Amino acid sequence: MKSRDIRKQFLDFFESKGHLIVPSAPIVTKDDPTLMFNNSGMAQFKEFFLGNATPKSSRIADTQKCLRVSGKHNDLEDVGFDTYHHTMFEMLGNWSFGDYFKKEAINWAWELLTEVYKIPKDILYVTVFEGSKEENVPFDQEAYDIWKALVPEDRILLGNKKDNFWEMGDQGPCGPCSEIHVDIRSAEEKQQVAGRELVNNDHPQVVEIWNNVFMEFNRKADGSLEKLPARHVDTGMGFERLCMVLQGTQSNYDTDVFTPLIEKIENLTGKKYTKKAANEEEEKTNIAIRVIADHVRAVAFAIADGQLPGNTGAGYVIRRILRRAIRYGFTFLDKKEPFINDLVAILSAQMGEFFPEIKSQENLVTNVIKEEEASFLRTLDQGLQLLENVVTETKGKEVSGAKAFELYDTFGFPKDLTALILKEKGMYYNEAEFDTELQKQKDRSRAAGEVATDDWNILVEGNTETFVGYDQLESEVKVTRYRKVNSKKDGTLYQIVLDKTPFYPEGGGQVGDKGSLVSANETIEITDTKKENNLILHIAKKLPENIASTFTAKVNATLRAESESNHSATHLLHQALRSILGTHVEQKGSLVSPGYLRFDFSHFSKVTDEDLKHVENFVNARIQEHIPLTEKRDIPFKQAVEEGAMALFGEKYGDNVRAIKFGESIELCGGTHVKNTADIWYFKIVSESAVAAGIRRIEAITGNAVKDYFNNQEKALDEIKAALKNPQDTLKAVASLQDENTKLKKQLEALLKDKAKNLKGELANEIEEINGIKFIAKQVDLDANGAKDLAYELGTIGNNLFILLATAADDKPMLTCYISKELVAEKGLNAGQVVRELGKYIQGGGGGQPFFATAGGKNPNGITDALNAAKDFIK
Ligand code: SER
Repeated sequence: MKSRDIRKQFLDFFESKGHLIVPSAPIVTKDDPTLMFNNSGMAQFKEFFLGNATPKSSRIADTQKCLRVSGKHNDLEDVGFDTYHHTMFEMLGNWSFGDYFKKEAINWAWELLTEVYKIPKDILYVTVFEGSKEENVPFDQEAYDIWKALVPEDRILLGNKKDNFWEMGDQGPCGPCSEIHVDIRSAEEKQQVAGRELVNNDHPQVVEIWNNVFMEFNRKADGSLEKLPARHVDTGMGFERLCMVLQGTQSNYDTDVFTPLIEKIENLTGKKYTKKAANEEEEKTNIAIRVIADHVRAVAFAIADGQLPGNTGAGYVIRRILRRAIRYGFTFLDKKEPFINDLVAILSAQMGEFFPEIKSQENLVTNVIKEEEASFLRTLDQGLQLLENVVTETKGKEVSGAKAFELYDTFGFPKDLTALILKEKGMYYNEAEFDTELQKQKDRSRAAGEVATDDWNILVEGNTETFVGYDQLESEVKVTRYRKVNSKKDGTLYQIVLDKTPFYPEGGGQVGDKGSLVSANETIEITDTKKENNLILHIAKKLPENIASTFTAKVNATLRAESESNHSATHLLHQALRSILGTHVEQKGSLVSPGYLRFDFSHFSKVTDEDLKHVENFVNARIQEHIPLTEKRDIPFKQAVEEGAMALFGEKYGDNVRAIKFGESIELCGGTHVKNTADIWYFKIVSESAVAAGIRRIEAITGNAVKDYFNNQEKALDEIKAALKNPQDTLKAVASLQDENTKLKKQLEALLKDKAKNLKGELANEIEEINGIKFIAKQVDLDANGAKDLAYELGTIGNNLFILLATAADDKPMLTCYISKELVAEKGLNAGQVVRELGKYIQGGGGGQPFFATAGGKNPNGITDALNAAKDFIK
């Protein structure tokens, strides 16, 4: 059975059991600061379990793109080494929100596996929670009894808290679970060791395929469990493992989910994937191929869902996954140029039907990966050179762990590559020292990012919070819950939730509102507003004395108006770009703040100044047309799209959406906007730049910021005029200054050349002969280029020359060393080594070739010592 049919049968089965089938949520999470990526099917439903929100249906099923590479569930380091863990995988899941419970969940799971998929019953094992005294949760007798009616008792195993109590993270909904494992070993192997011995024991052919979690508890900040308001079911089946079972293979990588990718990797690298490796060499190739086939999926889907590789947060995780793949290709498949991007087309052909995002973003994803590959390969190259230097400097066989760590930390140079290269030279690095450095760095970053979140203090049960901020900037409110958050970065803060609120929470690029909560006798400043799942969190440095009072929630109207102006301008900018550059332009990210707006979009080349001017004019024309806002607050998604709104990948839309229209510009948007484009006053682009391959960024300002901008420009111009003594024609005055400057430069160059010639004569006379070497070491009053020219000039005088020139132009000491070819060849002298050694005297370093090298430094006072040391050396 093809993987696409396996997926479909799952969804059809649960649809027939009354489940609503929903699309996968984006792989990158929004509105959930506790999670970077969706790590399980249930993550997007968390608030339904907690009772903070109500689902569309009490029965839901889907296939969810999951990524387990950070936080509590992290499989990254295993991937490639075994045949059944992945970074990205699909989780098939069915959910009951306060509807059916253990009986239906277990019976349906069994029916699907054994009657629909027809998996032989005798290769299946199930597990049940044995109970935990410490948690005060009893043995799951109910699940045990349900299973007993379906499978022989010797196939029901009891599991402890680690295996049979599922938790998404340190806090949140959780509960006992019942897993289904499959044993796909050969008959002989089964004879030797019974399958039940191998369940949950890391055997590649005895693996868990499905987890049925019975959500009953909420794990609180202090570690205790409290009962949830209702009981739920959360199941997750590993799609790739199910395919392995149904396609009769022994590894996930031998299913049609991976074989097309693996074939392409074989093609591109000329290496062969062997189902069973015969030796260590083959296993290394296998691991590398698995790593790449796995990682390209994670990276491609993350980019398609809007997460570009970057230097922080989720972007950094994606970059590291990709780099892991690149270095496996580099080291074990001998691929020194970009090739992983070539796999995207295969992925898109294979999965694009079910996940359209990968098809429609194929070009962009390919380009971004290609650029990342190229730049990391350059880094690897640099790292190799540095490692070469380290090797030259090291006496003995052991390279210091700190040096290896520096390579790893500053250049992203992988430690196993360091080890491999050193090994070829009969060397190694001190691993213990490396680990200590790594630990130190981890401690530093952990300390910086530490956040401790208390449990909620609930004043009013349930959550009926309404957002009234589209219509009001002030409203009478009550606090319904609050909690304390301690973070190393921001100190102690409070998150306050209200029964209703005019405060816009950060989202859709627009920053959160600031303002205050005012009661009869106090005012609490709200410094930011954020959304976490379905709660709007008002952030304050302190709590009101009397938390139960009625408050007036007041949004800072000036800041809000500035954000609105920038937000509406962003929509017009999007429209302008699509109409001027073409409809390939798609929004890739935005920031709308009171001060300025930032808009990232797909476009393959720099936007010309002329096009930027057109874009600016286009937006300003819409502003001058005084177009009123048409807001459709609650229309069906389909209708909005039919009217011309564009849905963005990586965003999750409900059945009903909000559409914002200014004339021809129509967007799905939850943000706040001006009532009329005239309120934007004026739109000015201040920069255009590249963010990643195929993605450009425009920064712009509107309203008051434009007035300030023009005022500052005028002031700067006035100052320039004054500095030029108020000429009639400023531009002409600047041009004549530039002319004069060019002429002077030319004259200076000629003069310096003359000076060098004279110096050559002078210095030639000072050359002394030491040990058969014609030696001179001297400080000269030239710049770096002048010294280089002079050294080469002197080099033409004769044979066996050792020339060392020191300069200190602009107080920057510099050593320039020239050694005649004969000395290099016969005496083994090396200018590169000479300047590296002498560089220490001027607190610097450098390098070059054996016959010519330079070193720059920080301490000009060390020059004399360096020159003397050179003489001692020659002596
Ligand atoms: N949440 C459970 C898991 O991830 C079942 O979906 O295993």
